[in-house]
Amino acid sequence: MTDAALTALFEHLRERTGPALLVADEHLDCAALLQLKVLPGLTVLTNRFDVAQCATQAGITSLFNDMDLTACTTRFKTISYRVSKEKAVVHHVINQAPQMLAADGELVIAGFKDEGTKTYISKAEQYLGCRAEVSRGERQLQIARFRPAHTGQPLDDRGYQDWHVIADLHGKPVFSKPGQYGWNKFDEGSRLLIECLQQQIPLPAAAPATALDLGCGYGYLSLMAAYLGVQRITACDNNAAAIASCQRNFQEHNIQGEVIADNCAHDIHHQFDLVLCNPPFHRGFDTEKSLTEQFVSSAAHHLKPGGFALFVVNQFIPLESIAAPWFKAVEVLYRDKSFKVLKLSC
Ligand SMILES: C[S@@+](CC[C@H](N)C(=O)[O-])C[C@H]1O[C@@H](n2cnc3c(N)ncnc32)[C@H](O)[C@@H]1O
Repeated sequence: MTDAALTALFEHLRERTGPALLVADEHLDCAALLQLKVLPGLTVLTNRFDVAQCATQAGITSLFNDMDLTACTTRFKTISYRVSKEKAVVHHVINQAPQMLAADGELVIAGFKDEGTKTYISKAEQYLGCRAEVSRGERQLQIARFRPAHTGQPLDDRGYQDWHVIADLHGKPVFSKPGQYGWNKFDEGSRLLIECLQQQIPLPAAAPATALDLGCGYGYLSLMAAYLGVQRITACDNNAAAIASCQRNFQEHNIQGEVIADNCAHDIHHQFDLVLCNPPFHRGFDTEKSLTEQFVSSAAHHLKPGGFALFVVNQFIPLESIAAPWFKAVEVLYRDKSFKVLKLSC
């Protein structure tokens, strides 16, 4: 179902004239995008590969990048933005708006109160040197329109475009950046998955030759697998910030392989000895199950006969029953009160 904040932005986009930019992340899905098909002069900029792919298929001009509005060649009459989950992304997008708006252009942002929208509005007012025109909707939805006058101090985007060293592995830095899941730490579930992988391959000589890192983020699982002896790794993710930082880490750690922007590895047509996956976590059972199912079926399609996948998920996700139709054997390798790690063999 389409998000109410996006619906409000769509209504505004239908009424406006002149070139418009919709900045969108995971809140926008293919079904919602089809509603925008008929709007002239619209560009969609997104950091999600699947959204960009759907937009292109629907005939909408689209750009897939790490929320870099300056990559657009047009100045827009309207920039519409449904606030993202991560504060650094929101601040980064607002900071770029004045540069990308035409002289009489308008920035429109929409989001709910519990997403910090009220604070975003007052910070944007200060930065853009103007009062916002705010309208409200159900569930404390706020839609704010700004006509920037003069720009002040940019919002703190936590060095959105910079590389951040978040750890050291084998004497080399691990790089990451804002704009992706858990960007500045090692995920506890992923750490547990690697402990299980280590038990499966006690010696580098026993390591599977090839691996697919499904939903790679900045590449933690790939890096650890490479140091355990996996020779060639393909990493894929749907998010542009993840792809950029995983590529950076592959270079820094001399990982043999490639990093590919893709939705659940749909466009990767090789098979691997090993698949590693810490699938994304979404609230709401339906979404969660269908997304988990997509990752599980993709793992099954990408494994060579005799290969295995390791998945880590939250304890309450019924991965055993989701995986059963796809694999010969499903084995729980580790379980605690938060996580479980499963080995899926074909
Ligand atoms: C829980 S994180 C794990 C990240 C990383 N593997 C780690 O262990 O730190 C899940 C990852 O899945 C990615 N993801 C979400 N939806 C995806 C999709 N449809 N296709 C590929 N990757 C996706 C997210 O961008 C995120 O990087």
